[in-house]
Amino acid sequence: MKHFIKETDFKAHELPGLFALAQSLKKGRGRHTPPAIAGQTWALIFAKSSTRTRVSFEVGIHELGGNPLFLNKNDIQLGRGESVEDTARVLSRFVHGLIVRTFDHAEVERLAAAGSVPVINALTDFLHPCQIYTDVFTMAERWAKDSDMVGSLKGRKIAFLGDTACNMGNSWILGAAHFGMKLSLAGPADFAPGPEIDALLAKEGLPKNYQFTTDPMEAVRDADVVYTDVWVSMGKEEETKERLRVMAPYCVTAKVFAAAKPDALFMHCLPAHAGEEVEQAVLDNPRCIIFDEAENRLHMQKAIVAMLAQTVRS
Ligand code: CP
Ligand code: NVA
Repeated sequence: MKHFIKETDFKAHELPGLFALAQSLKKGRGRHTPPAIAGQTWALIFAKSSTRTRVSFEVGIHELGGNPLFLNKNDIQLGRGESVEDTARVLSRFVHGLIVRTFDHAEVERLAAAGSVPVINALTDFLHPCQIYTDVFTMAERWAKDSDMVGSLKGRKIAFLGDTACNMGNSWILGAAHFGMKLSLAGPADFAPGPEIDALLAKEGLPKNYQFTTDPMEAVRDADVVYTDVWVSMGKEEETKERLRVMAPYCVTAKVFAAAKPDALFMHCLPAHAGEEVEQAVLDNPRCIIFDEAENRLHMQKAIVAMLAQTVRS
């Protein structure tokens, strides 16, 4: 049985099949497709807000023939101190998969270790792998000249600006290494990637293939994609004033975007705060593909759920 908790959980040989499945689910949406999880119930346990992740998983599970069950963490006993392990054991008796959005990454790992159904990481403070898989799929839709979507990513350069120590920064570090992409991160020195992500790279046998700089113009030079995320991640609201102050030089302005490759794409996991991490002019640029990116959450996550369901012995 397989889980999807970090970017490296699908191995290199599994990626072309996953991408092909996402592509075919996208093309076949609305037409009859064999229900991959007919009669199954997949629970979503969320401790944080969500628009895209929650809705795309709920709709996707329904479209695969299954039943999504949304559980606000505070409405179940987990929120009142029932152990993560007991929660995993009990829910495994009822449902066929767990999709979890929470603060502490270890909580997702513990649910997977104690339960007996696949677990998907729907965002933790440390990683957001569903977003990265969707993002690279969205890039490959534009870059792949033949059926080799995964191959079209190799050697491409991502520039990530802003809070490079957040879940999206970490996930780009792991994701870029896994997909063979180059990565430059630019942000305030106090928000540089931490030792935890370097340790994970090493554990996964991946090279430290990213560069960190405090100069946004240096990071975007020759970039194929300019990417940013909010400056105040969920759970960091108390630091808002300071974060907005120190990250101001890392706004993706029209000038910064123009310093990337002439055909560079702008991407953002969303939600976006126009006037903070990105200028409205960049959001209005035809090379801003944030809504294709958001839509693809549905197609990629359907493929992920279908693939994980296949790994469960009936
Ligand atoms: N990008 C993303 O995960 O969005 P939500 O927080 O709305 O799910
Ligand atoms: N870094 C952001 C991502 C939101 C999808 C957060 O954790 O709030």
